[in-house]
Amino acid sequence: MAGATGHTGREVVRELRARGVSTVAHVRPDSSRLAHWRASFAELGAEVDVTAFELDALCATFERLAPTHVFSCLGTTRARAKQVARAGDAPPTYDSVDYGLTALLVDALAQSRSEACFVYISAAGISPNTRSAYMRARVKAEAHIRESGLAAVIARPSFIVGDRDERRVGEHVGSVVGDAVLGVLGAFGARKLRARYRSTTGAELARALVAHALDHGGGGVSVIEADDLRV
Ligand SMILES: NC(=O)c1ccc[n+]([C@@H]2O[C@H](COP(=O)([O-])OP(=O)(O)OC[C@H]3O[C@@H](n4cnc5c(N)ncnc54)[C@H](OP(=O)(O)O)[C@@H]3O)[C@@H](O)[C@H]2O)c1
Repeated sequence: MAGATGHTGREVVRELRARGVSTVAHVRPDSSRLAHWRASFAELGAEVDVTAFELDALCATFERLAPTHVFSCLGTTRARAKQVARAGDAPPTYDSVDYGLTALLVDALAQSRSEACFVYISAAGISPNTRSAYMRARVKAEAHIRESGLAAVIARPSFIVGDRDERRVGEHVGSVVGDAVLGVLGAFGARKLRARYRSTTGAELARALVAHALDHGGGGVSVIEADDLRV
């Protein structure tokens, strides 16, 4: 489980453990909260892994663990990039994290000859002609997953809301305004549109993600749109 410390990732770990699935939560080795996450995941009965984001190291970890599923809930934000830049380090980008680290995991999994199913969180409304760097990273990640030949589940949720460690004004406003507009549209009959784009919580998304992942038999890539990410 990569991105296990995030809003959705920690709920995925919780959901997997609630279903009795043996789970390894990946925490980046340089995390300033490593002790906190070790304690928190131990409480859920999940093991913690701190493999570096390097191809050979990840490949060796996949060979050792032989996972049946690899979830990737990694992603950066513009606020994080600003925070890192303020500290004097090279800021992360959607291309380096949301696409780059996802592609690295995919390559390591493919190289380890794993038959595991790769589970990736993309985003609703994705389009190849997008001018948004955030969406472009998702278009590239989805293409990379398809080209890898791995079995995969690609989830495309709308806004993910809930209590976060940090304030995300853009997402909060987007989800509130979006849900209000969709409520009105729904009242006028656009129920499909409302079902697709209304926001979801990390816990709700995690339940759906795990259910779809465990259901995904055989190879191939399943794309799950937002309306099917609510259980
Ligand atoms: N929020 C939304 O409305 C929304 C909607 C659709 C799709 N998505 C996508 O869904 C995914 C999960 O979203 P979320 O809101 O649950 O994410 P989140 O809470 O921001 O968690 C992001 C995860 O990525 C890790 N991460 C970030 N930068 C990293 C880096 N440079 N190196 C290594 N690890 C790094 C974080 O680790 P640390 O805790 O160590 O920083 C954390 O585990 C993301 O890709 C997001 O873009 C989000």
